[in-house]
Amino acid sequence: MKEETKKILEKYNQQHILEYLKLLTEEEKNELEKQILTIDFEQLKELYESTKRQPKIEEKKIEHIPYIDKEKISNSTKQELEKIGRKIISSGAYAVLTMAGGQGTRLGHIGPKGSYAINTKNGTKYLFEIIIDTLKRAKEKYGVTIPWYIMTSKENNNETLEFLEEHNYFGYDKTKVTLFLQGELPLVNIEGKIILDKEKKIKEAANGNGGIYKAVKNSGLLDEMKRDGIEWIFISNVDNILSNFVDPILLGLTIKENNKIAAKSVAKNDPYEKAGVFCKMNNKVKVIEYIDLPSEMAEQRDENGELVYGELNISTYLYNRSIFEELAEFKLPYHAAFKKSAYLETTGKIIEPDEPNIYKFEAFIFDTFVKYNNITILRVKREDEFAPVKNRTGVDSPETAIKLYNEFYKED
Ligand code: UD1
Repeated sequence: MKEETKKILEKYNQQHILEYLKLLTEEEKNELEKQILTIDFEQLKELYESTKRQPKIEEKKIEHIPYIDKEKISNSTKQELEKIGRKIISSGAYAVLTMAGGQGTRLGHIGPKGSYAINTKNGTKYLFEIIIDTLKRAKEKYGVTIPWYIMTSKENNNETLEFLEEHNYFGYDKTKVTLFLQGELPLVNIEGKIILDKEKKIKEAANGNGGIYKAVKNSGLLDEMKRDGIEWIFISNVDNILSNFVDPILLGLTIKENNKIAAKSVAKNDPYEKAGVFCKMNNKVKVIEYIDLPSEMAEQRDENGELVYGELNISTYLYNRSIFEELAEFKLPYHAAFKKSAYLETTGKIIEPDEPNIYKFEAFIFDTFVKYNNITILRVKREDEFAPVKNRTGVDSPETAIKLYNEFYKED
């Protein structure tokens, strides 16, 4: 290893890596050295330091987010909005992006989450296939093949590509499908030290779905969008099998409200539902994740008995392409999660810890919303648009999602 690389390790208190060199072949040493040189250790140090700090208590003014209830829009307004949206979708300026860089560990599925299969009344369907079903229906309705972008991570990119190839993109035009890779960050242990994996490489993990902005820009996807005349991009999770992502009403409303971002919400029915909620914090748009929502806030109700922090984020967002350039430069905060992760010991043994042992750092897509005073929020009916497959059993499991799916498509 070059002196220069050793100096970097020393400077950031990561010399323990040198003890592993005895286990490595020349080629592995070169690979490791290359990897070390790609890491921003200054950033990693800051991230680790942040895990030791108490969150700053700031003077915060938190309010309910203004929203439009889709159910309450008059028919004439609906028609007007639909016309605006339909025109854009039919012109080919609309694209759909699925965030699929996560691991789906909660579901216990091995492989990309989109390759998880469920048994619906329409037969066994993979999560990716369900997305394609919606895209195909949109093709019939609007006469265009909507481009579909999939954000993957190093961990699942090849498998995702192989899966889609193997299934012939479920009959969708593969030239309209683009996979792009999100970024990664090293994991660090309780002492802030990087760890090695069984491949004798520094163990890294996807940097959260907030990595989307830089990934869209750095992968060349933003240029592709510009070249193809894409103006609006709908972004959602891979796991919501009722995601209504070609929605002319949402698009029409966003344009009418003169916003560059929109999001859908559903009314939270249980104060402790494990999802994020929209609110206004110091007059800016904010999503508070359930773990960060104190119980007194979670339970607070207004004069109509509605939960004040009750606009649940169903992770379905619409963006105007023009803001991606600036969002890619936005300095997102990272959220640290303390997790279990296997690592290589200097003896060459792989340790599978029983307790959490590492910090994983993730940025969240919605943390850019604080740039804005307003975004369009469209409250939709849960049973029409939100059936997430997250947990193996219980709430938000295949069982609950399939029930909602079957009910929604009962006329088919
Ligand atoms: C997410 C939202 C939450 C919302 C809920 C609705 C975030 C951080 N939280 O929770 O506010 O109420 O959906 O279902 O978005 N992903 C990547 N790369 C990553 C990490 C995740 O592409 O590095 C993707 C996942 O594949 C998934 C989506 O982002 O499609 C959300 O995943 P996750 O971070 O697990 O958030 P949720 O708990 O689903």
